[in-house]
Amino acid sequence: MKDRIQLTKGDITSVDVDAIVNAANNSLLGGGGVDGAIHRAAGSQLLAECRSLGGCDTGDAKITKGYRLKARNVIHTVGPVYRGGASGEARLLESCYRRSFEVAAENGLKSLAFPSISTGAYGYPIAEASQIALETCLAQLERFPQIEKVLLVVFSDSDLNVYRDTLKRLS
Ligand code: APR
Repeated sequence: MKDRIQLTKGDITSVDVDAIVNAANNSLLGGGGVDGAIHRAAGSQLLAECRSLGGCDTGDAKITKGYRLKARNVIHTVGPVYRGGASGEARLLESCYRRSFEVAAENGLKSLAFPSISTGAYGYPIAEASQIALETCLAQLERFPQIEKVLLVVFSDSDLNVYRDTLKRLS
């Protein structure tokens, strides 16, 4: 199992997988952070396709092509805004990872890469978010043996250390 999950630090827009996951907002019309980086790297055709999707509920996921990205597809998911942890945030964050796997499996994809969803503008504490991310990824890899590889692509050394400690505790 552990050989199918990989932690790495870097820019998710440069990752060569079947799909990278975008931490989007409900409009799916772009934003800052990783959303902005993915739209910049993919080009304007990504926004054009996103416009046709009619938005995305928090915790759900929708797929588009990757256009100018190395990744063939983008799976857009909308994480919860962290409001203290008593408003169902954990369940919604888990749903982002689970629905992204379900959409990947429905589309016959074999590899996907996640950013650290909700831990930027949406304020989710990184330690709790990494626990949800990794527990859900491990469970979904069991559920979908056809998905050969999942990468967690974090953007700082400190986030990488948190994810590494969490993964160590879970395996
Ligand atoms: N590659 C990988 N990770 C990245 C990149 C990148 N190029 N750019 C940012 N990140 C990291 C951030 O450091 C953070 O750890 O992605 C994580 C998620 O941060 P955000 O992009 O702010 O996403 P989120 O917290 O889910 O907030 C989503 O922000 O950009 C808007 O439209 C988006 O409204 C939505 C909200």
